Amino acid sequence: MAKHQINQFGTKIGLIAATVGSAVGLGTIWRFPAEVQSGGGAAFLLLYVVCVFLLAIPVMLSEFALGRSTREDAVGAYRKLSPDSKWWMAGGLAVVSSYLIMCFYMVVGGWTLEYLLGAVSGDLFEPFYQGQGAHEMFNGKMQEYVSGGWSPIVNTCMIIIINIGVLVCGVQKGIERMSNIMMPLLFVSLCVIMGYVLCQLGSFGGVEYFFKPDFSKITPGVMVGALGQALFSLSLGMGILITYSSYFPSDTRLTRTSVIVSVMTLVVAVMMGLIIFPAMSAFGMNDANHCVEGTTLVFVTLPEVFMCMEGGRVWAIIFFSLLLLAALTSTVSIAEVSVAFVGRRFKLSRFKSTLLVLLPLLLFSSICAMSFGPLENFKIGGYTIFDGLDTLTNNIMLPVVALLGVIFVGWVAPRKLMRDQLTNNGAFKSVFESAVMFVIRYIAPVVILVILISNIL
Ligand code: PHE
Repeated sequence: MAKHQINQFGTKIGLIAATVGSAVGLGTIWRFPAEVQSGGGAAFLLLYVVCVFLLAIPVMLSEFALGRSTREDAVGAYRKLSPDSKWWMAGGLAVVSSYLIMCFYMVVGGWTLEYLLGAVSGDLFEPFYQGQGAHEMFNGKMQEYVSGGWSPIVNTCMIIIINIGVLVCGVQKGIERMSNIMMPLLFVSLCVIMGYVLCQLGSFGGVEYFFKPDFSKITPGVMVGALGQALFSLSLGMGILITYSSYFPSDTRLTRTSVIVSVMTLVVAVMMGLIIFPAMSAFGMNDANHCVEGTTLVFVTLPEVFMCMEGGRVWAIIFFSLLLLAALTSTVSIAEVSVAFVGRRFKLSRFKSTLLVLLPLLLFSSICAMSFGPLENFKIGGYTIFDGLDTLTNNIMLPVVALLGVIFVGWVAPRKLMRDQLTNNGAFKSVFESAVMFVIRYIAPVVILVILISNIL
């Protein structure tokens, strides 16, 4: 039997830092503002808040219940609760999809590192060629950075190596310790940037834009988007929270934890909104040219903003460090799904299971990184490898994993499972139990099915 380190989070703060760290990733930071922009500002924000409280928190509780009651990885949890069935395959799908997500997410982590290094060396702000506007320059930079030769591959591999370094140290000494350091840093950097941006002349226009609801923009598509964003930004449907909650101590109050994690993630998302929109309005970038869509937002629009700010290079360094911290705490959480599975399934030490999971990624993620360079024209069904994995996992695999999870907890597992988990085996009363169970049984499956169907169509 392999030696196992203590597989439990040591402190409440640590487990919250780790779980929020997983949630606050690139999805929260760059996908959220884009959805706000297309979904009518505060109208989308409101919708998102409703989706988090009415749907995502109950779904999160169902994943917590699976993990903490069994103290197993995603596959083991299903197997333990339903030994003679094929339900373990739902956990298997979670492991597979989290692995596929990792393949391309590491690449984005690599870009973040590349930009941070560019900001530190000053290379990021070097003119691309004379006489070119800032927007074109940063657009050109992005093309150059993501497609250029070895550097995206080297940076992606660096991110994987950092992940290995954290994960081999185990749950408490690796994941928890890293989160305890990185999450406060991330919050402080966010506060500093937000404070500075909000003090700029003309920033109020952006605040107004963000907080003024335009309900005419709420279409069925936007509603499905808000639901999907609520699930994705809280790392649901990936097996992450099943795995992390298996490390929660038995006196952790799950309902309280889920609310704290969701509210903190929401706060980060709102703070990002309070950075991006005010900055764009202060520096006159709120035209159609400056979209806040994902990669363009962080790698083109924001560098442009920093260039306008006094001490722009320092701001860029702070921002890309923040983004790197967010990416690392998320990649570690998603890698842990496979590390925990491989470790328990094959009874391997943490060192061996971490290497077995992450070393092959050096190859897989490098191939994904090449989707923007040498493998640009290698397409399957019209998608590059990177886009194909992104679309397959986000649109299909994640909703399927989340759907199977709620069906299992709501209809297959004994009713007692949820009650025991919400009340810590009867240690106290839970006023939310019936409401949570109602959502898990009736609302969540229907809503997730709608998301899935609309993603497929
Ligand atoms: N909530 C995470 C995010 O916003 C989701 C995620 C976690 C994605 C881990 C990939 C890896 O980015």
